[in-house]
Formats: sequence, structure tokens, C-alpha cells
Amino acid sequence: MKTPHDVVLIPGDGIGPEIAEATLAILEAAGAPIRWRECLGGVTAMETVGEPLPQATLEAIEATGVALKGPLTTPIGSGFRSVNVALRKHFDLYANVRPAVTLLPAARYPDVDLVIVRENTEGLYAGIEHFIGMENDPRAVAESVMLITRYGSRRIVRFAFEYALAHGRRLVTLVHKANILKYTQGLFLEVGRNVAAEYEGRVEFDEKIVDATAMQLALDPYRFDVIVTENMFGDILSDQVAGLIGGLGFAPGANLGERAAIFEAVHGSAPDIAGQGIANPTSLLLAGCLLLDHLEEREAAARIRAALHRTLQEGAGYTPDLGGSAGTAEFAAAVIERLDAAGE
Ligand code: NAI
Repeated sequence: MKTPHDVVLIPGDGIGPEIAEATLAILEAAGAPIRWRECLGGVTAMETVGEPLPQATLEAIEATGVALKGPLTTPIGSGFRSVNVALRKHFDLYANVRPAVTLLPAARYPDVDLVIVRENTEGLYAGIEHFIGMENDPRAVAESVMLITRYGSRRIVRFAFEYALAHGRRLVTLVHKANILKYTQGLFLEVGRNVAAEYEGRVEFDEKIVDATAMQLALDPYRFDVIVTENMFGDILSDQVAGLIGGLGFAPGANLGERAAIFEAVHGSAPDIAGQGIANPTSLLLAGCLLLDHLEEREAAARIRAALHRTLQEGAGYTPDLGGSAGTAEFAAAVIERLDAAGE
């Protein structure tokens, strides 16, 4: 028998524990050799140990290097800052990877299969902003800095090319706005072209302006394969792409750095339906599949994806968000039932 991988599980807030339970049941049924180390985070942690991101959770991720994370509630206006952002900063998770694959028969586009690689630490989201006072108005002007570094640009574009090679993808499209932002976006593009030259003959390279990309994604998503872009453009485009395949419920995410890899559902904690046992676990389950890929447990990941595809195609186990009346546990049972068929 294989030695199990130690992986941190942060079930999270709201619907988190419900979708985590379903996801773990499916991963176990698929034979994924994982030993979970359950840790606290978010409001659940705040209520239990008085802090949203306990040291014990950070130490566990430090030790295992891998975590699966449910959604975490961020109080609006007051309270603690986003735990998601804190994790990203603590572990320098510079690459946000969001694959979008059509699984739902009713999705806007069949057969979409693309990946957005988003720089996760720089750009406007670096949060360097301030007010400038004028006359009697201390907030007459607000100014924000778009931070782009050669170092950050190089490592994210290189990451995208390495990802393409590792996953058998043929094309990397760099998305920018260098026609207007000649310094910041210009640097990103310049560095990107240099990195692309290192991969010539192995992975194709294309470059596109962000607004044109948004339109082309809506018209013809099939012309894209791997998209690499800076922080804010990546944030927006990855949700747009999720819309092409049926919404955020079908989009998993991975936050990756040199020291840790954290896989997550990209939707929120859905307080409106928490505790009712009707949440759709697909996003966290797909995040679990990305985790299995990362652990080189590709066979289990492929089996789960095939069973999930079959479940959705057959209209089995649909939760209310999909127009059905099944609960989270029924959905999980429907996927587990189809695991064997998927393995044949
Ligand atoms: P949300 O994604 O939690 O909910 C939006 C709508 O989608 C709700 O009607 C909800 O019921 C539905 N929904 C979401 N996930 C679902 C699922 N798996 N199955 C069925 N229906 C689902 O977004 P909202 O309400 O804006 O945020 C709630 C909380 O989640 C906030 O505190 C927010 O900060 C946090 N959040 C956390 C994220 C994370 O940890 N990655 C990401 C987004 C929001």
C-alpha cells in the first residue's frame, strides 16, 4: 500500500464543512491515499480559538506544504482582514491557477478547456493607495499604484510555460494593456516576450490586449489554452471564464508558491444556505482533483473527474442551484456510484 500524503484540510465557514465532507468521501472512495490534518480558519477559528488564522494552521501548512480549503467568511466593514489574503501573503503564493472545463450540459459553451494563470501578489491589488487632500477635502483625490516588477513578471510567465509543459498544453497567451500603460504593462509584456523565447519550439506564444481578450473569450473561447496575466485582469477574466462553463460553482482554484500549494473552492461560504445540506460540492471537489494532480495521484483525479462528468451529464444528484432537489450527500453518493463505471 502507498504511503499516504499528509494534507491540511481547512473546512472553512458556512457551507464549508458540508462540501468538505462530501469531497472527502468522494476522494476516499476513489482511493486517494491522503491523511487529512484538519485545521481551523476564518470565522470558525475566530469563534473557537479567538483568531481567524491560528498559528497551528500556519505551522501545519508549513509542515505538509499542501492544503485543501473551503470558503472563508470575511466580515464586511469591520472585523478581521481576509484570511485568504493573509495565507497568500504568508506563503508568497504568487500563482493563482483557475482551470475552466465544461462539465455541465447546460453550460453556455460545450468543451471549453482552458486555464488562467494569474499573478497573485502585484499590480493594483498590491494595495498601495492613498488619498490626497485639497482645500477642505482630505479625500479629494484617491491614488493607487500598479506595482509590476521584473522579478514578479518573470516568475509568473515562467510558471505559465512550465505549467503548459507539465500539462501537455500547446499555447500560452499573455494578456496585457501595454498600449495604454506603457511602463507597468509594458514591462510585463517585455519580460513575457523574453521568457517566451526560452520556450520557443516547445510551447506556442501569443499576446493580446485585455479588452480584446474579454470579447474573444465570449465569442470563441476555443482559441485559448493557457492565459497568463497580471493580478486584476486575471481576477476579472477568471470569473468571466467561469461564466462560460456554468458559473463559479464549477471553477476550482489553486494558489501556488515555492513553499506551499493551497487548493480551494472559488465561491464563498454561502451563508444563505449554510447548514441546510443542499450546497453543491463541485467546486471544492474539483479543487480536490487539482490537489491530487499536484500530489501526482493523477489516476484518482481522472476517475473522479470522469465520474463527476457522467453524474452531471446524466442529470443525477442535481442540487437546487442546478435546478434539482438533491442534497449535498446525495450528490456525493451519485458521483461515488459512478466512480467504478468511470474506471472501466
Ligand atoms: P457566495 O459565493 O458565498 O454566495 C453567492 C450565491 O451563490 C449565494 O446565493 C449562495 O447560496 C450561492 N452559492 C455559493 N456557493 C454555492 C454552492 N457551493 N452551492 C450552492 N449555492 C452556492 O458569495 P457571497 O454571498 O458574496 O459571500 C459570502 C461570504 O463568503 C463572504 O463573507 C465572502 O467574503 C466570502 N467569500 C469567500 C471566498 C473564499 O473563501 N474563497 C470567495 C468569495 C466569497
